[in-house]
Order: sequence, then structure tokens, then C-alpha cells
Amino acid sequence: MRYLAYTMTAAAALLAAHAAQAQDSNQAEGSNVEVLHWWTSGGEAAALNVLKEDLQGQGIGWQDMPVAGGGGTQAMTVLRARVTAGNAPTAVQMLGFDITDWAQQDALANLNEIASEGNWDEVIPQALQKFSKYEGEWVAAPVNVHSTNWVWADASLMEELGLEQPQSWDDLIAAMQKAKDAGYTALAHGGQAWQDATIFDSVALVTGGPEFYRKALIDLEEEALTSDTMKQVFDRMATLRGFVDDNFSGRDWNLATAMVIDDKALFQIMGDWAKGEFLNADQTPGEDFVCFRFPGTSEQVLFNSDQFAMFDQGGEVSPQQAALAKAIVSPEFQIAFNKVKGSVPARTDIDVSEFDACGQQAYEDFKEAAASDNLMGSFAHGHANKAAVKNAMYDVITAHFNGEYDSETAMDELLTAVQINM
Ligand code: GAL
Repeated sequence: MRYLAYTMTAAAALLAAHAAQAQDSNQAEGSNVEVLHWWTSGGEAAALNVLKEDLQGQGIGWQDMPVAGGGGTQAMTVLRARVTAGNAPTAVQMLGFDITDWAQQDALANLNEIASEGNWDEVIPQALQKFSKYEGEWVAAPVNVHSTNWVWADASLMEELGLEQPQSWDDLIAAMQKAKDAGYTALAHGGQAWQDATIFDSVALVTGGPEFYRKALIDLEEEALTSDTMKQVFDRMATLRGFVDDNFSGRDWNLATAMVIDDKALFQIMGDWAKGEFLNADQTPGEDFVCFRFPGTSEQVLFNSDQFAMFDQGGEVSPQQAALAKAIVSPEFQIAFNKVKGSVPARTDIDVSEFDACGQQAYEDFKEAAASDNLMGSFAHGHANKAAVKNAMYDVITAHFNGEYDSETAMDELLTAVQINM
């Protein structure tokens, strides 16, 4: 009996100890944020660290949920699986229409209180609010503004080949021809659907101008999608295909950037997250690499803004989610993060004098484009139409880039892809 009593007491003590431990670890888990994102390249990870450190400074732990794959296509697939399994992450990196789609499904926490404390309505530009708000409620915190119509050039190859910054499509092609003739890779590119689409963004813009871009890729008008201009866009994509190296298929975007960093390739046509890779490799703009708007598109900005949406964990936004959202939009964070990431602040009231020349230009371009109706959501990065349409268009653009379709067929397929998924 005595033995039993002792054992029971010991068992109770053990149970109590376990319970206390479990509570501890729950508390620890409760003070963590699990963040699903696709920032896995060197430059992206360096930028993400700025956010991690900011939160850790506030006593909030970071549970990392990286899903590799530029542009976030894979991350969005994982997110869907997690939500379906009833296990949504606390916070998720998202772009454009993905945010409003999830908000429509009532999956996102309401950030109104934090937004009103931080005066987000005044400092976040309308073009971004279109995606950060759903039916008047704040559902996402914008981290940055990127844009896709950029070219990244190797400064030493430009010099070696006697090249000036190209001012037109013809100049761009002539420069690449020179590089190719000299035995270099003219265009560093990775054959992945989202990268092909990223190039397509700029080619559509320069070929048809902003009105065409809007009609074809944002408003999805049949007349624009089947126009001679669209045929020319595809023809030009085929021309660019002639300037990539033999091993381009499947290559990650940051490895393509590395070809420019390593003086093996002349240009990369890529969003300004590429700058994060140059900086991470200790390169200096204007010295080691040159940034310029895709020739012929210097007045326009095709933007995409990374935002963090908080998944509703069954009730009010948690203190950790609130802290994350608040940290993201704070001016200090916007400066520290975007200097490393290659993007510019998502707020219009920031002094960017600490930014490098590419960053200062990008911020000016963004504000000027917004004021002159030249700011458009990037099709390739989810700011022109919903994911189903975008992904179907990706498939056609990639098939054409890989020679499966001629330009006429690609146009027909593009229209079908749009009509089926709209
Ligand atoms: C974009 C995203 C950028 C960058 C890029 C490549 O969609 O907005 O932040 O990460 O993908 O991964």
C-alpha cells in the first residue's frame, strides 16, 4: 500500500512536471511565428534575416518555413495543402491576387487596428492597397515594391565589348549579338515558367507600350491578345531565346545572376531582387554591375509588392502576428530591409538617401509612374490577374519559348488559356 501510495505520488508529480513542461513549450510555441516564404537565395535570405532579427529583438521566435522556387509558385502550392489540412502557417509571404483570393475565402486575419495605429491608409500607396485590403479591411502588410522591367549588366563585359547602355530594343539585340560573337553568354536566363514570364512582361511592354500591356495582360481583352502586336511579342521572345546558353533549362534565377556576377554573361532581364544577389556578392552598382530599365520602358514600372498576410488562427489577430505586421511597415524596417533586398519601400514617406543609385532610381521611378498613370501590376508576378489565369498563361509562354509553339499557335493558345480560366 505504502509502496503504491508512493508510486502514485511520484506518478502525479511526474505528470505535473510533464504538464508544466508542455505548458512551457506551448508558451514557447505561442510566442513563435511560423513564416512561410520563398526567400531562399543568398540575397533573399540576407534580407529575411533583417526581419528575423527585428522580431527576435522583440522576444518573438521565428519558425522558418521556406519553400524554394522563385516567384512563389511552389510556396503557394504548399500553402494550399497546409490550409486544407487545417494547419495554416501564422504568416505567409504573398503577392497580389493571391492575397485577395485568400481574403475572399475568409482565411486572413484582420489587421485594421495595427493599420490604423500606423496610419497605413496615408503612407501606403493606393496601387498596393488594392492588394493589402479586401472589402475595405486591411489583410496584409506590404514589405516592399519590386519591379520587373529591369536589365542587369556586367560592367566589365560592357567595357570589354565597347558597349553603351542600350536605348532601344534594337540596341539591346545588337549588344547581345556582340557578346555572343565574342563567345560570351549574351542573356543569363533560367528556363523556368515564371522566369520566361518575367521576360515576357518587359517584351510585351516595350513592344506594345503601356496601353497594350494593360489591355492584353491586365484587362485580358481578346482584341489585344490576338493582335499583330502580340504576335510580335512572341516573335521577340523567340529572338531572345537565341541568346541564352545551352544549359539554361531549369536553372534557378539566382544562378543566372551569378553568371553576370562571374563575368560569364552580359545581361539578365530580371526584377530588382537580382540586385540583392549582386550586393550579397559584394558587388557595387555602377562599378561591377549596371542596372537600367528595359530599353524603351524607362517611363513605366511593372511592379510587384511582397506582402505578409496573417492566417486567421481562429479569433483575433495574435500578439505575435500583430508585432510582425507592425514591424514590417515601420519606416526603420522598410529602409533596412529594402536596401538589402533590392526593392524599395512600400511607403511613400521614406528618405531613401541611404539607398544605392539603383534603389534611388527605382523609388523615383515608382513615384513618377504612379503619378503619371504608368504604374502597372506585373503579370508575371501575380499583380495583373488571378493565379489560375496567370499560371495557364505561363504554360503557353514557356511552351513557345521552348519551341513547342510558333508565334501564331502561341497566340491562339494564350487566348484559350485566358478564356478557360477567367
Ligand atoms: C518575386 C518576389 C521577390 C523575389 C522573386 C524571386 O515574386 O516578389 O521578392 O523573391 O520572386 O524569388
